[in-house]
Amino acid sequence: MASSSRWSSLRRAAAISLLVIAFLAATAHGTQIDAQKPIVSAKSRRHPGLTVLGYVTPWNSRGKQLVENYRHKFDMICPVWYTVHAVDQDYEVRGAPPSDDDEAWYKRLQRPSTSAGGDELEALQVVPRFILDGWDRDDFRNLIINTTRWQMLSDRIMDVVVNMNYDGVVFESAATHLLPLPLTTLSDALHTDNKILVVVSQPIRSLGDTSDPLTAQQAAMMEQTNRLVLEALPQLSVLADYFSIMTYDMTGPGGREMNRRDLPEGGKMAQAAAQGNMREPGPNTAADWVSENLITFVEGTDPVIAKQQQQFQLNLKDGSPPRKFLLGVPLYGYKYPILYAEKSTGKLVKPTPVQNSSPHHAMMTGAAAPPLRHTLSQDSIAFLRAAGEPVLASDIVEILKEHRPEILKSEPEKEYYYDYEPVKGEGWWRVYLPTGESLGHVLDTINDVVEDDVSYIFGGAGVALWEVGQSSEELLAAL
Ligand SMILES: *[C@@H]1O[C@H](CO)[C@@H](O)[C@H](O)[C@H]1NC(C)=O
Repeated sequence: MASSSRWSSLRRAAAISLLVIAFLAATAHGTQIDAQKPIVSAKSRRHPGLTVLGYVTPWNSRGKQLVENYRHKFDMICPVWYTVHAVDQDYEVRGAPPSDDDEAWYKRLQRPSTSAGGDELEALQVVPRFILDGWDRDDFRNLIINTTRWQMLSDRIMDVVVNMNYDGVVFESAATHLLPLPLTTLSDALHTDNKILVVVSQPIRSLGDTSDPLTAQQAAMMEQTNRLVLEALPQLSVLADYFSIMTYDMTGPGGREMNRRDLPEGGKMAQAAAQGNMREPGPNTAADWVSENLITFVEGTDPVIAKQQQQFQLNLKDGSPPRKFLLGVPLYGYKYPILYAEKSTGKLVKPTPVQNSSPHHAMMTGAAAPPLRHTLSQDSIAFLRAAGEPVLASDIVEILKEHRPEILKSEPEKEYYYDYEPVKGEGWWRVYLPTGESLGHVLDTINDVVEDDVSYIFGGAGVALWEVGQSSEELLAAL
């Protein structure tokens, strides 16, 4: 279904090729602006009711400038600066703002400001991430069973938070679902100091309906993760002000299972797909999946359920906890090495270039040039030949400039995708990238759930963007 509609859209791609130019125009020209004077009006938020958290990593440091240019689009900024290690009998926090500039930057964000247009800009909350790094099973167990250690973990993190005057913490670990009790101490310490706790959580993934042994095993693992995440929610929701839910890589490096409905029954391709051997590239995220996750988290943290599940005598306060859910949205694309095959025969096929009829075309290069067209048999489909990898907005622009591929839109996700061959004869790749439209679609869908307050009562929702340094300006403008 999804694939065949993508292929029919390949046929009517000419109209969409204009998007290449729009995308290049939106991302390619760098803006050098006074760091303290954001360019856009302070009132231009698409959904002012949705909280926006932006992650900023030291390895894509242009994120700092983008945050300042678009600071009216954010409520919270999470610099990815700290790791927490279990050493000897104690815990050690490592990390710091990488430079004096970074320190000045986050302090600037914490103060109100005015935009270039004279609009007032509110202070942002700066909540750095603390991730439990390199922890093994024993490290987690030693923490869980020992209340002295709950206090030690809380103290080490709070030392940094108080010293640096941060507004709170984003807490992440590989097994946070095991940590509701240890985190009570950190949560109390933060709240006593009027600071906030954001807990990072795995998303809930839905299971495929296939019954073969390999995928059944994968399905069992997925089910197990879902169950662990859901079981811990009621307790964690009492401690956390926000959840940052990692709904980033819906498809991820391994691609997604090929939809067998796209393939002729009984054919080679269908057989391979049935054995779980056919993976295809796919969009990075989808609004439906994101809103399903939101609803699952809202229902999973219902205060009534939370009270019923109080098996650890957690000190639940009266009234519903201020549960807020930030749904992860990727600001990067993914590129996948692909092969093409005929759906009916499974025979490998290659795209062949189409000669452009107009003599002008041959002379045009760069963004203004028309896309290079390739044809494939109508019956063909793309599948993964190896794992995919993330690709930055800046790389995407380079690829577009150099290869001028046709850009197509995936439905219903509204992400763009295109195919290109980095080196002639060495294999094709497909890139999926988020767009202002796909991001807007996710925001609209989250907003629908928030406004549906008859069915769902909770503290609010928003997005967590990973991560600002990989973004294009077009994406931030769409917030
Ligand atoms: C709890 O942790 C502290 C600090 O590491 C340690 O000194 C103490 O022996 C531990 N207690 C138990 C019962 O393991």
